[in-house]
Formats: sequence, C-alpha cells, structure tokens
Amino acid sequence: MSYSIVDAMRVGNVARPTRLLWAGLPRPRPLANLRSMTERTQITTPTPLEEDRTSEPSLRPQRLAEFIGQGKVREALSIAIEAAKHRREALDHVLFHGPPGLGKTTLASLLAREMGVNFKSTSGPVLEKPADLVGILTNQREGDILFIDEIHRLRPIIEEFLYPAMEDWQIEIRLADGPKAQTMTMKIERFTLVGATTRFGLLTAPMRARFGIVQRLNFYPPEDLATIVSRSAEILGTETTSAGALEIAKRSRGTPRVANRLLRRVRDYAQVRGDGVIDDRLAQRALGLLDVDEYGLDEMDARVLKTLIEKFEGGPVGLNSLAVALGEDVTTLEEVYEPFLIMEGFLMRTPQGRVATSRAFRHFGYTIPEPQPAKRGPQGTLFEEG
Ligand SMILES: Nc1ncnc2c1ncn2[C@@H]1O[C@H](COP(=O)(O)OP(=O)(O)OP(=O)(O)O)[C@@H](O)[C@H]1O
Ligand SMILES: [Mg+2]
Repeated sequence: MSYSIVDAMRVGNVARPTRLLWAGLPRPRPLANLRSMTERTQITTPTPLEEDRTSEPSLRPQRLAEFIGQGKVREALSIAIEAAKHRREALDHVLFHGPPGLGKTTLASLLAREMGVNFKSTSGPVLEKPADLVGILTNQREGDILFIDEIHRLRPIIEEFLYPAMEDWQIEIRLADGPKAQTMTMKIERFTLVGATTRFGLLTAPMRARFGIVQRLNFYPPEDLATIVSRSAEILGTETTSAGALEIAKRSRGTPRVANRLLRRVRDYAQVRGDGVIDDRLAQRALGLLDVDEYGLDEMDARVLKTLIEKFEGGPVGLNSLAVALGEDVTTLEEVYEPFLIMEGFLMRTPQGRVATSRAFRHFGYTIPEPQPAKRGPQGTLFEEG
C-alpha cells in the first residue's frame, strides 16, 4: 500500500516535520494507526487474509454432509459421486466457479474424501512448464484428484499439455529441447481434474468444454451463513445465540470466509468486553466498532459507491475510469467488490458502464437524481440546431 508520510500528516497521524528527526527512537504511532486503518478496510474482504490461512483449515467442512447451503451444488455432486462409485470409475472432471471465499477449495478437498482418493493441489500461476505436472500426473492412481486453483491463469502451453491428459489419459513428454526434439507419448491413469476459478469468463472455451461437471457457487443467504457461524462457533468453543449468529451472518457479504472472520473478531470482543457469549446486542456493538455496517458494506464498498455518485453522477461510467478514480486495480474491483454490490442491488453493470442504483443513493443519504430523458448522440444535436 502506498501511504506517504505526507498523507500521514494530512490525516493527523504524525507529528510535525521538525519532530520527524527521531534520532533512532522507535516510532510506533503512525505505523500502528496505519495498520488499524488497513485492517478496517479489509475486515470484510472476501479474499483470504493472513489470519485466515491459519484458522481456516480447522473450520473447513470435511464431508459433503457438513457443507452448509448451496443445495443444488451439493445435490449434483452427491449424485455424481454415487454414480462414479457405483461404476467404480473416476469422477468426471469438475469445475467450480464463483466469487472468492464461497467454498470452492473446500468442495474440491472434500470430493477427494468422499471418493476415498488421493488429493494433490496446485494452482494456475505456479505451473510454469509441462514438466511441473509430469511427476504428479504419472504418479497418480486411478480416480485420484488433481486440484488446480485459479485455473483461468494457466499458461497456454500447460493447457495444451493438459488436454490429452484429460481426454485420452495420455501425455506427451519431450525428450530434449529444440525443434527436432523427439516426443514420447505416455499413458497415465484416469484421474479427476478439479478446477476452481473466480473468473469463469477468462477460461478458454476448449478448457471449459473438457469439464463434465460445472458448478457455480452463489452468495449464501443469511440463514445459511448463520448456520455456518454457529457451526464454527462450536468448533472454536464459543457460545452464540441464534440471534447473535444471524447478526454476524447478515453483515458477512454472503461469504462464509467473511462470516468466520467476523466471528473470530466478535469472539475476542465477547471475551474482553462481555461474558464470552455472543448474542445479538454484543454482536452489534462489536461489529459497529469494526465499522461493518448493517449490509456488511465496508469502507472500500462505500468508497466505490460514493465515488460513482459524487464523481460520475451515479454513472454510467466505464470500469477502467472507476478503477483509476479509486486508485484500485481493475481486477480487484471487478472480482472482489462488484459481485456483492451487484447482488445487494447497489450497483448495476450496463452496456454503457457501471451505474449506482437508487438504493445506493438512499443508503448514503444522497438525493436520487431525476430520470434523464434518453441522451441524444452528438449528430442529433447538430441537426436540431440547424
Ligand atoms: N458451505 C460451507 N459451510 C461451512 N463452511 C464453509 C462453507 N463454504 C466455505 N466455508 C468456509 O469458508 C472458508 C473459505 O472457503 P474456501 O477456501 O473453500 O473458499 P474458495 O471459494 O476456495 O475461495 P478462493 O476463491 O479465495 O480460493 C473455508 O475455510 C470454510 O471454513
Ligand atoms: Mg480457494
């Protein structure tokens, strides 16, 4: 994050320049403030934070029956599993897509457990050359699962290498470098490739076509998230009332990862400021302190919508211009922030660009603009004047 000392002074986090000569003294203040600022922005981000990496594994459902919500996806998977087991065959290749934190990786690993097979995991950006996959593919036993996260980021050369592996259970190995190098075809066991992506649209058509089972994960309704919160609380050894769990659920952006993160923060608050039990009033107080509002909107969501309203009169505005105005990267804006704002009806994607809805205007206390008459093109006005 770029945050200069000048910015720090502007927001009053830092002493005047004359006192900047600390002469080797520790200077904890501005850094401490900075950390709490970024934490606040991030508390409801659906992408994993460092703290999630350590706590998530223990909260991850291990079996399909423990996986809460996404009824259609679960049903489709359990049928596929049963059929494959019945036929004693490998499961069809499976693709999970949808916004971050909804359970794609969780489902991939529990598929392996349900099928009783080995599980190897890798991801699109770390695979550089086909040789990186040869070892895995040749060592796999029938039915084993190879999980490729962020599969939309596979290099073309790796994709080409995977096609015959997925379809004909064979791979081409180059025996040397150079144009005349010989290749050798090698048979491999029938395995199952499970892919996950947050960006279905970026997956190439031939890759998409090779998956027999394609499942989209959707945001969770508050009731399902409340069940997830209660389950996680039990694992963490914390008591929650059902109203307390629902309060956390409602502000979790439809995302289990966020729900679990908020639960951990509220649990800390309950231990320090309460009697350890999370009820609705305690959850409200704790979440208020974390700046998470009633819809689960955080500072970044608010900035997106306010920028759209204040700088672009509510839109339509192109994604790139909006990203520049926010100083945010286009992909993060499109993948992380927009899906939730669209689902909650704060933002719309139109062919002309992004538009803030009247709900967004109301939520932040702006007057809703009068509907504009259909805009004319420049030619139209030219002729009219003549
Ligand atoms: N249906 C569910 N029931 C219970 N917990 C869930 C469920 N889905 C997700 N979780 C919890 O949310 C956490 C995040 O899920 P997961 O890592 O599978 O998301 P993801 O879709 O792979 O995210 P990313 O796109 O960032 O890789 C998991 O550790 C798990 O604890
Ligand atoms: Mg994942």
